[in-house]
This record gives sequence, C-alpha cells and structure tokens, in this order.
Amino acid sequence: MRLWRRNATVKGERVGFVPTMGALHEGHLSLMRAARNECDRVVASIFVNPLQFAPHEDFGKYPRTFQRDLELMSAEGVDAVFYPNEKEMYPEGRESVTRVVPPCELADCLEGHFRPGFFTGVATVVAKLFNIVLPEAAFFGEKDYQQLLVVKRMVGDLNLPIQVTPVATVREADGLALSSRNVYLSEEERKIAPMLNRTLNFVKDAAQSGQLSLEAALEKGRADLKALPDVELQYLEARQADTFQPAAQFELPMVVVLAAKLKNVRLIDNVVVR
Ligand code: PAF
Repeated sequence: MRLWRRNATVKGERVGFVPTMGALHEGHLSLMRAARNECDRVVASIFVNPLQFAPHEDFGKYPRTFQRDLELMSAEGVDAVFYPNEKEMYPEGRESVTRVVPPCELADCLEGHFRPGFFTGVATVVAKLFNIVLPEAAFFGEKDYQQLLVVKRMVGDLNLPIQVTPVATVREADGLALSSRNVYLSEEERKIAPMLNRTLNFVKDAAQSGQLSLEAALEKGRADLKALPDVELQYLEARQADTFQPAAQFELPMVVVLAAKLKNVRLIDNVVVR
C-alpha cells in the first residue's frame, strides 16, 4: 500500500480513499464515484473491523461478499483495494490496541448510547487506515451521520491533512436507505422498513412548514413508529447538523436521526435539512 501511495505522490496524483466493510451496494459505489470525480486515484478498503462490534452484535454473520465486491470496484474504476486481515490490523491483539477515543458529547449519545464503544472502534480503525493509505481526501456516506461527524472531528482534532467529503444517502425507490444489513430483513420487515424514512420526512416537513413545533412533530413521529408491528424505536431526535447538539426548535442546518429495530435487524437513517 505504501509503495502504491509513494508512486502516486511521485506522479503528483491526488488520492481519494473510501473505507468500507465490504458487502458493497449502490451507497458504497456512490462514494467511489465521488472519489473518482474529485481525485486522480481511488483506493478503497475492505475490512470488517471487529473493534467496532459489541460481543452480542453481528460481527460473525456480517455479510462478506469479497469476490463480488472486487468486481463492483473494478467496474467503478477503483485503482487499488486494501484488504488487510485482523492480524495485520491488530498485530498485538485488538484488546490491547492503542485507541482513538472521540469526545463524549459526540460519541456517547444516540448511536454511542446504544452501541457503547462503537465510535472508539470506528475512530481507531479509520485513523489506522488513514495512516496506512495516506489519502488527500476520504469519502463517507451521510447515512451514518454521527460517524461522519466523529471522523470529521477526529481529523480536525488530530490535525490530519485529509479532506473529509460527505456523500448523500442512496435510497431504494420506496425511500429505504441502502445498508449492507438490509439483506437481513424478512419480506414482512422489508415492507415496514420504508416507514422509517417516511417518518423522518414527516418530521422535517411538519416542523419546517410550521404545521407542528419540532417537539410535537418528533412526538408524533415516535408515536407513529411505536404503533407499527415489530418495530422497536430506539431514538428519533433532531440535532444541529454541524455540532450534533440537540435542536430545541426547527433551525438550519439540522439533522433528524433515528434508529429502530425491526425484530432483530437494527436500521438507522436520517434526513439533513440545510
Ligand atoms: O461505515 C463503515 O462501513 C465503517 O464504520 C468504516 C468507516 C469502514 C470503519 O470500519
């Protein structure tokens, strides 16, 4: 990887990086296209990072579709793929690795509350990948909005010379945000899943038009989701889009975020209002 990077530097090429855990879908490919448009060379990584999974989560059964991923990346004109194994990423064992701990006001709420340690796992592996690939730019999906802010904050706080570029969420025709975990949905759950995005849009529209206060719109959204069969709402909240501080009333830029479990499948989504 270092040799490849050095060659790009010698040629004066700008390298764009897309970190992934594989099981690629259109959302990942849109990141690669954005990198392709903005950079001379594109590197993607595939590494299912054990450090960001809690013991009860789906690390073992996380979809792994390596050959298909390589074909998709090749079709997108990705120039290099970095796919380390666990021993290469955590030679001393992952338990004792030096960690990057993002600030608690950003990392302990919402996703961090339901997935303790998740953002430390993400920040640590992303910092390692950045230091290995040494890209000028990195591309992250807005679908994982809190993760995007954690990575941006890490890059700022640690003075990493990398431009972090957000890329809009890619959705199915019915609004469901693409996610590698959508393959876990049963036929019934797949029918209910678009309600998440519909509810986010309801909250946004009702609060933006002034039809309801932000709090009333959120309350109605929560009640609607809780009324659905087999849906366990974990959070539906509005935050300032740049700082991730709670939004007390409708303000711009704002993000409405949610997480819900459809039986055993945990989905997240958001709508950004600018
Ligand atoms: O969003 C993901 O796929 C992962 O969290 C990332 C950024 C590749 C780190 O493992």
